[in-house]
Amino acid sequence: SAEDTRDLLLSRIRDVADYPKPGVVFKDITPLLADPVAFTALTDELSGICERHGATKIVGLEARGFILAAPVAVRSGIGFVPVRKAGKLPGATLSQAYELEYGTAEIEVHAEDLGAGDRVMVIDDVLATGGTAEASLDLIRRAGADVAGVAVLMELTFLGGRARLDGALRGAPLDAL
Ligand code: PRP
Repeated sequence: SAEDTRDLLLSRIRDVADYPKPGVVFKDITPLLADPVAFTALTDELSGICERHGATKIVGLEARGFILAAPVAVRSGIGFVPVRKAGKLPGATLSQAYELEYGTAEIEVHAEDLGAGDRVMVIDDVLATGGTAEASLDLIRRAGADVAGVAVLMELTFLGGRARLDGALRGAPLDAL
């Protein structure tokens, strides 16, 4: 059942106290990735979401988002597009800056990878403040593509990412497993 899958996934996420700095509890997904039953269950769940929302392309967010999104793209038979931290993509890019708690960050996508007619699902491991996901939706729309939705393994609800993302979603779904 969906509840069994959720319990399995939760059981394979390790809480690491005071990483990367004191007071932060890091959600480590490496035990999940190392368990083929759990990783397959996660891939199947995310593929189902992509298919339900009519996605024709998948964007993965560097770096852990790549690991989750790539097998979903293969499983669903649709293309994978990496959204990378600035300076990593060799071709013509679109860039989007966004606010962090302290300072700013910037992500990029190859402009030729997204365009009119694409319905794009964004996949990542964690929705925290929502800044990264929000910037990715801006990139997708600036490329002329439509947003099918955002799907994440975990939502850290106490950080308010869902509210930050609300305007940028424009009614598209946000699924958190
Ligand atoms: C983490 C996580 C998300 C993002 C969420 O990535 O994988 O991409 O932060 O945070 P936000 O909702 O506050 O924007 P990180 O920048 O640590 O990159 P990594 O996957 O390369 O380690």
